[in-house]
Amino acid sequence: MSNNFFNLTDRVAIITGGAGLLASEHAIALCSYGAKVILADFNKEKCNAAVEILQQQGFQVSSAYCDVTNKESWEKLLADVLQEHKKVDILINNAGFTNQNKSANFDASFENFPLEDWNAIMNVNLTGTFLGCQVVGKQMLVQGKGSIINIASLYGVVSPNHNIYPGTGISQPVAYSVSKHGVVALTKYVATLWASKGVRVNALTPGGIFNNHQGLFLERFKQLNPIGRMSEKEELRGGIVYLASDASSHVVGHNLIIDGGWTAW
Ligand SMILES: NC(=O)c1ccc[n+]([C@@H]2O[C@H](COP(=O)([O-])OP(=O)(O)OC[C@H]3O[C@@H](n4cnc5c(N)ncnc54)[C@H](O)[C@@H]3O)[C@@H](O)[C@H]2O)c1
Repeated sequence: MSNNFFNLTDRVAIITGGAGLLASEHAIALCSYGAKVILADFNKEKCNAAVEILQQQGFQVSSAYCDVTNKESWEKLLADVLQEHKKVDILINNAGFTNQNKSANFDASFENFPLEDWNAIMNVNLTGTFLGCQVVGKQMLVQGKGSIINIASLYGVVSPNHNIYPGTGISQPVAYSVSKHGVVALTKYVATLWASKGVRVNALTPGGIFNNHQGLFLERFKQLNPIGRMSEKEELRGGIVYLASDASSHVVGHNLIIDGGWTAW
């Protein structure tokens, strides 16, 4: 291995959930080390806007449509990427059904949580990640090389602390936590299946990312996190580059937790 093990020059990367808060951070991380990035989202307009901002900053990024819950949509995305770039080296399964794009019933209590919403969240967070691994991973197997990073969550490692939400207007539905636990399990399954074939699969677990949170929720979260604050969105960049690059060539089925210590006690 060369000493330049973080180098991503000319590596082609797909990042889903491209219109959201964290995808641009992942893109900046990969582009800073030489990668070309395709940001994909089913909200094409918002994704285009995110891409425009990154392009203005000089990053090699383009925008694409993908509904991660739909296999044909994945296949179309892959075909387009192959036509343009001939290969795909990195996939970040980042799209998520989150508090930012919540359904009408996202805040419903466990006792009243509708099956319909359970299915919708599982579909994006878990089935979407499964389909991404299946469709893009199949191509990586043909190439004999690739790195897949599945974005999980602190609530894919531990349950949400139910005591921090009352009175804050924020909630964490059961399906979010369960789907993210599933993402970690899926990661281990595919990672062990493909490790000997050159395709590495790992998970990256963000903690609670500060996004103008205020009041009671922020105070409670800060008190409960060993590092005494929420995460800054930039703080995932190092982990993304590490897992995407040859620096992690022997890292397989790992869940890299970047949470300020939330899951450590
Ligand atoms: N922000 C946090 O505090 C935090 C913490 C832990 C884990 N995460 C995880 O990190 C990832 C990114 O989080 P974020 O904060 O950027 O979320 P976000 O809500 O800002 O962005 C998610 C994006 O996913 C897209 N999306 C939803 N359904 C889709 C579908 N069917 N097909 C394609 N795109 C779809 C949305 O349009 C949105 O642009 C998510 O998987 C989330 O669960 C976030």
